[in-house]
Amino acid sequence: MDLYEYQARDLFEKHGVPVLGGVVAEDPAAAKAGAEKLGTPVVVVKAQVKTGGRGKAGGVKIAKSPEEAEQKASEILGMDIKGHTVHRVMIAAGADIAEEYYFSLLLDRANRNYLAMCSVEGGMEIEQLAVERPEALARVAVDPNVGIDQAKAEEIVAAAKFDAETGAKVAPVLVKLWDAYREEDATLVEVNPLVKTGDGEIVALDGKITLDDNAQFRQEGHSELVDVASEDPLETKAKSLDLNYVKLDGEVGIIGNGAGLVMSTLDVVAYAGEKHGVKPANFLDIGGGASAEVMANGLDVILGDEQVSAVFVNVFGGITACDAVANGIVGALKKLGDAATKPLVVRLDGNNVEEGRSILADFAHPLVTQADTMDGGAAKVAELAAAGK
Ligand SMILES: Nc1ncnc2c1ncn2[C@@H]1O[C@H](COP(=O)(O)OP(=O)(O)O)[C@@H](O)[C@H]1O
Ligand SMILES: [Mg+2]
Repeated sequence: MDLYEYQARDLFEKHGVPVLGGVVAEDPAAAKAGAEKLGTPVVVVKAQVKTGGRGKAGGVKIAKSPEEAEQKASEILGMDIKGHTVHRVMIAAGADIAEEYYFSLLLDRANRNYLAMCSVEGGMEIEQLAVERPEALARVAVDPNVGIDQAKAEEIVAAAKFDAETGAKVAPVLVKLWDAYREEDATLVEVNPLVKTGDGEIVALDGKITLDDNAQFRQEGHSELVDVASEDPLETKAKSLDLNYVKLDGEVGIIGNGAGLVMSTLDVVAYAGEKHGVKPANFLDIGGGASAEVMANGLDVILGDEQVSAVFVNVFGGITACDAVANGIVGALKKLGDAATKPLVVRLDGNNVEEGRSILADFAHPLVTQADTMDGGAAKVAELAAAGK
């Protein structure tokens, strides 16, 4: 899960990383009140969207009075930044920036390690710097068992070629950033810019944090950071039902068992759909044991997608044999009752396929069509989806 800048700011503060005051606002009046509350002569109104490059896109604006903050907020709220609509701004205390640096710490999967990157040339052009002058971006491996202690922090600031005096001030901040990274189970912590102010203080002015969702079980507070409103409602519902679901942008709902089978089902449906102008609507893997309940939950999520006009259930009976899957589908359709309104193409194969097919044939639900092969099923569902569009 990626965090908003204001959430990263709060986590930094919690772990002792120096940050400036910040207040979140969802409307211009609240932005004005926020600027009054901060009470600094200059504030910066910052779009809160989960993408970088806000400054260049006009999403970061200076204001020299609460009235001006209100005005800037009204300009920024509702803006579109790289496909993200701005619903919130952060009113941040204005910093007197002398220099801008860059620091990030991330999971380096290829090397089974962490990687720290640091540069004395931070700011908005860091991607360009990394490409054009990679030597200006120090890369230092960080042993996960040791982390960034004072010695490692000194190694990083030396590699980034900080002068001795500044380096001595930056190093302890890097140790604190490591604390935040480790204690919050992050996979990325990035500060750009990390600044030196006119008074020589080091402050994290912009933070990006990615949290490891697999650590949620030991990070109770993190569920509060989820921005439910900005998530796809179907994905949120699927998540609450423990389903492996990804919303796509088509008309053919897909249910399968096993990620590999579902991926190839997406391919054959995309191929068959070309002729009819339809595409897969989702990825949904119901896993090995396709019980009636899981099947019903899966169908329920897919049928809740207004774009879906037909559904393809493509199941290969393995440990859970086809008769059990067929009973699952029957149970699901009974459970859904009138909520099942869209045609269903079912292709069963594998263990006990004959029993499975005859269970569905006996049930004779008007919306269910059986297919013998995956390609045949894909062609049929594409045709039905196009007709129902
Ligand atoms: N609180 C602040 N005070 C003064 N200047 C700021 C402040 N926050 C950001 N800036 C300036 O705006 C630039 C862009 O802001 P930043 O938060 O890094 O957004 P982004 O990385 O999305 O462009 C920074 O490089 C910095 O120069
Ligand atoms: Mg930035």
